[in-house]
Amino acid sequence: LSRDKFPTGFTFGTASSAYQVEGMADKDGRGPSVWDEFVKIPGTIADNSTGEVSVDQYNRYKEDIDIMKNLKFDAYRFSISWSRISQGTGRVDWQGVAYYNRLINYLLEKGITPYVNLFHYDLPEALEKKYLGLLSDQVVKDYADYADFCFEQFGDRVKNWFTFNEPRVSAALGYDNGLFAPGRCSKAFGNCTTGNSATEPYIVTHNVILSHAAAVQRYREKYQQTQKGRIGIILDFVWLEPLTRSKADNYAAQRARDFQVGWYIHPITYGEYPRTMQEIVGDRLPKFTKEQVKMVKGSIDYVGINQYTTYYMYDPHYTTKPKDLGYQQDWNCGFAYEKNGVPIGPRAHSAALYEVPWGMYKALMYIKERYGNPTIIVSENGMDDPGNVTLPEGLYDTKRIHYYRSYLTQMKKAMDDGANIIGYFAWSIVDNFEWRSGYTSRFGIVFIDWKSNLKRIPKLSAYWFRQVLGNY
Ligand code: GCO
Repeated sequence: LSRDKFPTGFTFGTASSAYQVEGMADKDGRGPSVWDEFVKIPGTIADNSTGEVSVDQYNRYKEDIDIMKNLKFDAYRFSISWSRISQGTGRVDWQGVAYYNRLINYLLEKGITPYVNLFHYDLPEALEKKYLGLLSDQVVKDYADYADFCFEQFGDRVKNWFTFNEPRVSAALGYDNGLFAPGRCSKAFGNCTTGNSATEPYIVTHNVILSHAAAVQRYREKYQQTQKGRIGIILDFVWLEPLTRSKADNYAAQRARDFQVGWYIHPITYGEYPRTMQEIVGDRLPKFTKEQVKMVKGSIDYVGINQYTTYYMYDPHYTTKPKDLGYQQDWNCGFAYEKNGVPIGPRAHSAALYEVPWGMYKALMYIKERYGNPTIIVSENGMDDPGNVTLPEGLYDTKRIHYYRSYLTQMKKAMDDGANIIGYFAWSIVDNFEWRSGYTSRFGIVFIDWKSNLKRIPKLSAYWFRQVLGNY
């Protein structure tokens, strides 16, 4: 595998997100986001850690960019923390703006292209307090204003934008099972004290799709002609393979895909939610007005697909619906990591992460075939090791090299078969704060020595990338 097998201009980068790497969470004017509040709840994060310091990229961005340069990456995908820029009050925090200018300028100085994501789960807490954040349609205008401000400030240099990262994860984990901020769900589903799993995920997604579309409309009307950039959204796509060839399992897998990736890309491509969702969710599923359809349909220049793994899906043959209804119960699907006792692939550290390269191929071909062959960026892909690996063993990540080689090979196969893929981003450049797993999971191609002043040490996989990317 080497770069010369890919078309010229194909982009290779790494990805990260603000709360996971920046640190300085309450410094230089940054206000709290829903995640700063969420991590404080005892028992929420595996090691009771937070992103308050993390890898301190806010102060050490030059070091990290120098590493990317050294490894011969073309691009860096990072996110802007909304609550570093404003608290949704209209007042701007210029220290936050200055930070992103420093970051962008240094990337450009080193010849690395910035890919900027405007939202990676971190809604300003002020908006959560004011009107329950994503649950209110008031967020649409506030988000569009924030995005507009970012286009205006950074768009002379940033040409690649994403509006939201994995909005399905915010909706499902934030409002169906309460595992992510703001931790809402019906009582029956866990720790939550407030919320309604049967309605809130759908309301949130509706507001997020409208926020996305409103931001894209601003970009297109005010900036795109002069700035000449592109904008899209990032969706998570676990490939969902029917467990058996039965009709019921096939339909279960299709339903599950509709409830995951289709929930977003179907309206963006066709102007309405998938049929399966309309039928199953019924009145609980919001509808787009004619005006909204116009805004939503076609609201991407490209789509980012985060692809890590694959599960088997099967029909559980419930005769009656489970009593406590939530988004997850709506699809009425079972999932499994093995078939006849054989695991679907080698397991990474995370319990739900298996190396299944053929799932990458199928996921990309599915997007190509069902959704009009859109321009695709593989915006995340990677695997984790346990957080407690020590030096030097933690650097010998041959499993990760195997993972990346096999996934890149399958991505290339999808390209050869006509999928319009223009870039690939490995998750992640450095080990970092892995949400509920805190620092017990390491996704980096560069090791962070948490005990020794956050020292960065490239793992073997980093050198493997350098070889692949430098070899042309
Ligand atoms: C995302 C992901 C990342 C994770 C990565 C590894 O939403 O893009 O959740 O933030 O760190 O997927 O699990």
